[in-house]
Amino acid sequence: MAELKTPLLDQLTTGPWPSFVADMKRLVDRKPTVADVLAQLELSYEEKKGHWKHGGIVGVMGYGGGVIGRYSDMPEKFPNVAEFHTMRINQPSGWFYTTKALRDLMKIWDKYGSGLTNMHGSTGDIILLGTVTDNLQPAFDEFSDLGWDLGGSGSDLRTPSCCVGPARCECACIDTLDLCYDLTQEFQDELHRPMWPYKFKIKISGCANDCVASIARADFAIIGTWRDDLKIDQEAVREYVNSGFDIQGVVIDKCPTKCLTWTGSELVLDGSNCVRCMHCINKMPKALRPGDDKGATILVGGKATILQSAFLGWVIVPFMKLEKPYDELKDLLRNIWEWWDEHGKVRERIGELIYRKGMRVFLKDLGMDPLPQMVFRPRANPYFFWWPEEVNQG
Ligand code: HEM
Ligand code: HEM
Ligand code: SF4
Ligand code: SF4
Repeated sequence: MAELKTPLLDQLTTGPWPSFVADMKRLVDRKPTVADVLAQLELSYEEKKGHWKHGGIVGVMGYGGGVIGRYSDMPEKFPNVAEFHTMRINQPSGWFYTTKALRDLMKIWDKYGSGLTNMHGSTGDIILLGTVTDNLQPAFDEFSDLGWDLGGSGSDLRTPSCCVGPARCECACIDTLDLCYDLTQEFQDELHRPMWPYKFKIKISGCANDCVASIARADFAIIGTWRDDLKIDQEAVREYVNSGFDIQGVVIDKCPTKCLTWTGSELVLDGSNCVRCMHCINKMPKALRPGDDKGATILVGGKATILQSAFLGWVIVPFMKLEKPYDELKDLLRNIWEWWDEHGKVRERIGELIYRKGMRVFLKDLGMDPLPQMVFRPRANPYFFWWPEEVNQG
């Protein structure tokens, strides 16, 4: 093979930050694939033109998703990346690994793939970049022997993901890890067999801080919350204030609904106006806590730009108790999928379908009642239009 010369890419190694070029070059001697990725990318930089092409279905036995086929459009010039498929491996809930598990994974990937990884992809999965069609099945077999599974890709349920939740975080109002694992097991068919108009993502955050950004990235966002009042330890509040904490400026004035008052010795909450945004709790974690009656808010429709512009999720269930076996949640999911499957056009996400048909049709077909919390944009316009026969023309 000709010597690898990449003057344009090499400029990326000169900055103060880590560089994927420097990282990849360390692999070049051992992995001809990586040399060709770099050589082809250098050519792309010269020509300002991409040389990867989409298309071609590849996979493993019994699975419709989990492998993303990729090819070079210049296979004669770059034979080692003629096939450069990506495998998505289902990550454990909350991305907790033992070092042994990681070493096992890497051993298999070193054997069958380019050795390049992306921990983790936007979907949440472990992304293993670059292998050939013939290696897919043996690699998959070795992964599954160790208990790993492929994640979702294509028009199926994408690998559900969640925040670290109760494993490390005192804000968690639900067991995100258990719920994520439970839904992953329950919906194995939906995960592995693309059967819908397009992809469907479930993301779970333990509280409104929404560390997995579910509201913007998930068709179905589950966000922990509580419905009684948040808990205040007045002694701890006074400690904050006595040590110079600007409670008025940092907490009281920033509460979005102005439902907190500081009397000089006590923090008073108007619980009926608290929207459970987490702001005050984040600022005074030693003194404030979510309430005891915990559950989750469910939102639907978040997504990036596809047929329509980017959408944030809308609330469809302001509060749901979430305890094993999560039947109410699973029924809701199945009903939504059925409706979407029946009415959705190809590549139409659930949010776009609701946008096209209207929230009132969605709610009516699912047998749900409109609620004030179902707003399209907070504090702007109510998203629900009443049916004409329901309006009192009086
Ligand atoms: C104009 C060109 C391209 C467009 C518009 C495009 C668009 C996208 C989009 C929208 C996704 C996200 C899908 C999802 O929701 O998971 C995606 C994922 C992906 N794309 Fe492309 N892509 C392009 C070119 C490429 C090329 C050239 C490659 C590789 C040779 C590639 C490899 C991938 C892979 C591996 C994923 C999955 C990553 C993951 O698991 O999150 N794409 N692409
Ligand atoms: C200058 C070069 C590159 C830049 C600036 C770049 C930047 C990025 C960024 C910002 C993301 C999104 C990460 C995330 O939100 O999870 C991404 C994802 C990705 N990149 Fe790159 N990348 C570069 C080169 C490459 C190369 C050479 C490959 C493959 C050989 C690659 C494969 C991917 C894939 C498969 C994903 C999607 C992973 C996922 O989100 O699931 N990238 N890249
Ligand atoms: S979303 Fe909430 S519960 Fe989950 S890690 Fe973030 S702060 Fe903690
Ligand atoms: S959680 Fe948000 S809305 Fe509720 S009291 Fe705290 S700052 Fe105000």
